[in-house]
Amino acid sequence: MTLVNEAVTGPTTDGYRGSASEHLWRHFADMAAAKSKPLRVITRGEGCYLIDSEGNRLLDGLSNLFCVNVGYSYGPEFAEAAAAQYRQLGYHSSWGSTHPRAIELAEKIASLAPGNLNHVFFTPSGGESVEAAWKVARQYFSLRGERRWKAISREMAYHGTTMGALSLMGIPEVREPFAPLVPTAGNVRNTKRYGRPTEETEEAFTAFLLDDMEQRIVAEGPDTVAMVIIEPVQNHGGMLVAPAGYHAGVRAMCDKYGILLVADETITAFGRVGAWFASELYDIRPDIITTAKGLSSAHAVLGAIIVSDQVYAPFDQAGQMLLHGNTFGGHPVMAAVALRNLEIMERLRLPDRVLSKQDELRGKLESLSALDAVVDVRGTGFFYAVELASERLDGTPLTDEEKAWLYGDDLLAGGLEERGVLLRISLDGGDPVVCVAPPLVADTAEFDVLTEALREVLGTISRHYAAL
Ligand SMILES: Cc1ncc(COP(=O)(O)O)c(C=O)c1O
Repeated sequence: MTLVNEAVTGPTTDGYRGSASEHLWRHFADMAAAKSKPLRVITRGEGCYLIDSEGNRLLDGLSNLFCVNVGYSYGPEFAEAAAAQYRQLGYHSSWGSTHPRAIELAEKIASLAPGNLNHVFFTPSGGESVEAAWKVARQYFSLRGERRWKAISREMAYHGTTMGALSLMGIPEVREPFAPLVPTAGNVRNTKRYGRPTEETEEAFTAFLLDDMEQRIVAEGPDTVAMVIIEPVQNHGGMLVAPAGYHAGVRAMCDKYGILLVADETITAFGRVGAWFASELYDIRPDIITTAKGLSSAHAVLGAIIVSDQVYAPFDQAGQMLLHGNTFGGHPVMAAVALRNLEIMERLRLPDRVLSKQDELRGKLESLSALDAVVDVRGTGFFYAVELASERLDGTPLTDEEKAWLYGDDLLAGGLEERGVLLRISLDGGDPVVCVAPPLVADTAEFDVLTEALREVLGTISRHYAAL
């Protein structure tokens, strides 16, 4: 199918749809099922809103993939930064030599990162940041004369889809079709509190989680484990904030067994939870941070890992090098755009803004708890999950068909879209969760649109649910 030139003939939604169904293989998309539903083609962005080829304006309640932190109105500034860089130098690597934007961006990131995390290695994505972190960890030990290769991650965690990152994935149904994978030390429990015994104290929950992690380390053989990787607030499973004492306990355990601690901040860095880095906010003291999305607000294809002085030291010896690299990490145009993004975030004081606005957003979302189908509202910053019931009011489990009906596209995502709101519904692990993570420039007006759309749609779903 040939597309008609939009600028000459006006909107060509059918042309886009026809061509997409023939040629565009979308990510994690049920391509066959999608044929029965018109594909939405987004053509413009503005503030916190996306506009499609038919002129519909939709509030982006998820910052796209938890990444468009500054929203969609800074295109002209990004274009200017990119154009200036293209005029000067369109590409150079950071292998044997480098270029000014990579140097400037590395310095800027190091200045924002906590503690002794001072060494920045660029990647083209979050998943490749995780790959790089694991390779740094493995080679760090081999340079010290130890052979440690395994990594511990948590149940339900998503760390990317390349084979290494996929091996760490805590979602079996996404991982298993690709086995055999890279050997790991498996998944330990995540910090989901909902569903735990009501009489369990926060302290007891922390102890339970740390005990589970320690048992795993001991069972695997501590001297085979290179790293523990955790998201400061875990996205998959539904914005799982750690209980008090957890991060300090994980740090202490890593120290006890000589294991590196990696904070996967692909989502949480650059303002999402009200700080440049969640590791700073929660005093996690990781050895390595992985980042991507918010670094450029996804206006550039760029990720990075930030490594502590101690982990960097053995690589900084004469005759040694990190045996890892890629063509596009630290691309000058991407780095120029990321620098502009950080400048915009500083100008708008976005991390502070999130801190000062998070209670308002949380309060509005918590008001949804009164609905029968809403069983938990949790999260922090601009990063919340509304968990929906998996059991009937009498405590018996909903069947898969009932869940598919109640929480499927027609009632939930479709209902929200009819009310002008785009949100992600996750059914990972069988627990239905609505993820709410608006751009960090969102304000009361956007919070109200989001919450009221959710109230109406979840209200309807609650009535169906209560009648089951
Ligand atoms: C915590 C975390 N790590 C890694 C990734 C992978 O990032 P990418 O899709 O850029 O490879 C994601 C993506 O959502 C993520 O949320």
